Amino acid sequence: MSTKGNSKENGEDPLIRSFSVDHPEQPPIHIAELPTPVVEALRTTGRDVNHIQLAVKSDLGPDGQFGEQWLLMDQHELLVLDRPNGRAYQRHQFKLDDIEDAKIERCVGNGLMQVTVGQQPHVLLHYSNDLTDRFGRVAHYLQERAEHGPETPVPNPNDDSHVCLNCGRYLADPSSKVCPSCIQSGKILKRLVMQAKPYWGAVGLILLLLVGGALVNLIPPRLTGVLIDDVLSEGGRPELLLWLVLGLLAIRVTDVGFTIVKNWLTINVSGKFTAGLRDDLFTHLKGLPVDYFDNNQTGRIMTRINQDTSELQGLFSQMTTFALNLLMVLGIGIALFSMSPALGLYVLIPTPFVMAAAYYYYRYMRPHFRRFWVARWRLNAMLNTFLSGVRVVKAFAQENQEQARYQQRNSQMLNSQLQVNLAWGKFFPLISFAFSAGGLIIWYAGGRAVLANEITVGMLMAFIGYLGMFYGPLSNLTHVTQAMNRFVTISQRTFELLDEPVQAQPERPVSKPEIAGSIRFDHVTFGYDPYYPVISDVSFDIKPGEMVGLVGHSGAGKTTLVNLLCRFYDVTRGAILIDGVDIRDLSMNEIRQQVGMVLQSPYLFRGTLAENIAYGNPEATYAEIVRAAKAANAHDFITAMPEGYDTIVGEGGSGLSGGERQRISIARAVLHNPRILILDEATSSVDTETERQIQEALNELVKGRTTIAIAHRLSTLHNADRILVLNEGKLEEQGTPKELMKHQGAFYNLVQMQSQMARIDGSTANL
Ligand SMILES: Nc1ncnc2c1ncn2[C@@H]1O[C@H](COP(=O)(O)OP(=O)(O)OP(=O)(O)O)[C@@H](O)[C@H]1O
Ligand SMILES: [Mg+2]
Repeated sequence: MSTKGNSKENGEDPLIRSFSVDHPEQPPIHIAELPTPVVEALRTTGRDVNHIQLAVKSDLGPDGQFGEQWLLMDQHELLVLDRPNGRAYQRHQFKLDDIEDAKIERCVGNGLMQVTVGQQPHVLLHYSNDLTDRFGRVAHYLQERAEHGPETPVPNPNDDSHVCLNCGRYLADPSSKVCPSCIQSGKILKRLVMQAKPYWGAVGLILLLLVGGALVNLIPPRLTGVLIDDVLSEGGRPELLLWLVLGLLAIRVTDVGFTIVKNWLTINVSGKFTAGLRDDLFTHLKGLPVDYFDNNQTGRIMTRINQDTSELQGLFSQMTTFALNLLMVLGIGIALFSMSPALGLYVLIPTPFVMAAAYYYYRYMRPHFRRFWVARWRLNAMLNTFLSGVRVVKAFAQENQEQARYQQRNSQMLNSQLQVNLAWGKFFPLISFAFSAGGLIIWYAGGRAVLANEITVGMLMAFIGYLGMFYGPLSNLTHVTQAMNRFVTISQRTFELLDEPVQAQPERPVSKPEIAGSIRFDHVTFGYDPYYPVISDVSFDIKPGEMVGLVGHSGAGKTTLVNLLCRFYDVTRGAILIDGVDIRDLSMNEIRQQVGMVLQSPYLFRGTLAENIAYGNPEATYAEIVRAAKAANAHDFITAMPEGYDTIVGEGGSGLSGGERQRISIARAVLHNPRILILDEATSSVDTETERQIQEALNELVKGRTTIAIAHRLSTLHNADRILVLNEGKLEEQGTPKELMKHQGAFYNLVQMQSQMARIDGSTANL
């Protein structure tokens, strides 16, 4: 990791400056540059700023008020400096090797970081919640260092997702990882070319057709010249007229033929290429770990896969137009100069102006374009959120607010679009004017040359013909940079998704076609953020065929624990073993075939009920589906529906009640017939009678399989072989229900609480 801790004499706030968009010349910032007082404080204590490996700024002072403190680390020490009123002094100093543990804690409105030294906790500093991630990374590093020693790589705690990965500047468009100025166009284009390898032949053919088309188009003005000079003039050869006209016709026909074939090829190649890319993206997407989907908005992923690729397709066609235009400009330029070098020069007079104007136009427009893209993305994201939350919006009567937000974003998009288009609307007539003025020069200079008998009228007409074809493609070429920018930006985003690391799969998975079903959690620690353990140091064994109840307060980590077993997430520390094999050494497919899950919030896909039940086994017969539905006590309500098993449910299962959805998902698990069955609150949304019936069905189902059942209603677990009690991510108790009741510990208290509630409700809780 690079070390930079040089002082800045101007005293600006370095963090704010490093996030500013207007400093493209700045070098990459991995460590926030230190302000002068901090550097001086380091010097006076005899330390070298160049040895600082990590520097994180807090926005709160030691008193918890707004202020500034710095957490610094060199190879041996951890320091905390306070910087009140332009001075800095050291508040804490610890040897890294003495630090036994480190953690951050969330408080109301702010957080604090704490280290343990000599078994004594020391609060280092406070910070506002915005900085949680940064200090969390430092704490995580210190924990790792305490465990694995000084070799632990030092992280870059200031690396936030909303800043450019390359230069650390603030990202205007958060759907990309690097800022537009850090995109390496060359590399991306090369990769795009490699990606298009199967189409190289077709692209070569397109290029040939383009060259052919350009050449063919160069002929007619020449023929016009011949027509005027040799056929229509006095003493000309009128018998050539028909031949010339036929020649022109043949040229047009050839041109049309070339264009049709070229268009056909372009449409096919660009369509197939982008469809292939979409396939690749989806293939990649499905292999991404669940936390990618936790962290990325659905709308954003959809934009990348659908919108970006179709835009890429459009740009692809635009590129062929550019290539044609470039060829035309070159060809016509050569033709003009070969006819009359002097007149050729006149043609070039407006060219530099046009090019310069175009250059400045796009430089000026670039931020406007970007603003427009971001506005469009935000509008999409907002619509997406609205659509997925429409019921909440209506329930809380927030339609008007949502509408206001939509209108606001829509008008932002309109404004940025107007800016782009209005600027273009001004620019384009000006360019056209420059071109037509160029044409007038030729009329004048060419006319004089004709009068002076230097060139023929036919030549002048040919010249003017070429001129008409010259400026059009030239002005079109001024789009090139814009289109190229867009092309590269979109490709970059597409590649970013393709480069997103997929969940690690073992290279040579251990094959376990038939598992017995023993489960072992071996000192498992896990956090959705690695520095916030949700499960800490949990160890237990489950024997094959055992039925285990998992209980605990809401948020204790029960769902998380079973998610780990399915490898939706990977453990941070420790290991999970199925039949003695680390699940990271089993193939993902095998795990999911052997482990069946009834999710806490079951999801049904749009389709018939039968299809939904058979989701995991599409080849299941109708009889099997019905048997599974009967086992889950779903058969009766299904047949009561007019369309029975062919009833179509909406996305997410709309059209069914919560309990019905649960029963469908139980039926799905029954049909899946796994060795290990996980029931996460499988009967939470049904009434007591239905619950009893499902329970009976489940009792059948769990026979001979390892089962982990999570339940809030403890009464449903009375026939569990064993109960595990989870509390704040830690395993608090385990034993048979009887033992635990006798022991009068956590489980006993939970049961007591529930039976009191039940007495108040007047309902029954039979534990
Ligand atoms: N995808 C996620 N990203 C970040 N944090 C999460 C995520 N899912 C759950 N958590 C957090 O992890 C903790 C444990 O959640 P979990 O869903 O495992 O609890 P639970 O015991 O199943 O609770 P409940 O009984 O309410 O279902 C909670 O504090 C929750 O906020
Ligand atoms: Mg849960």
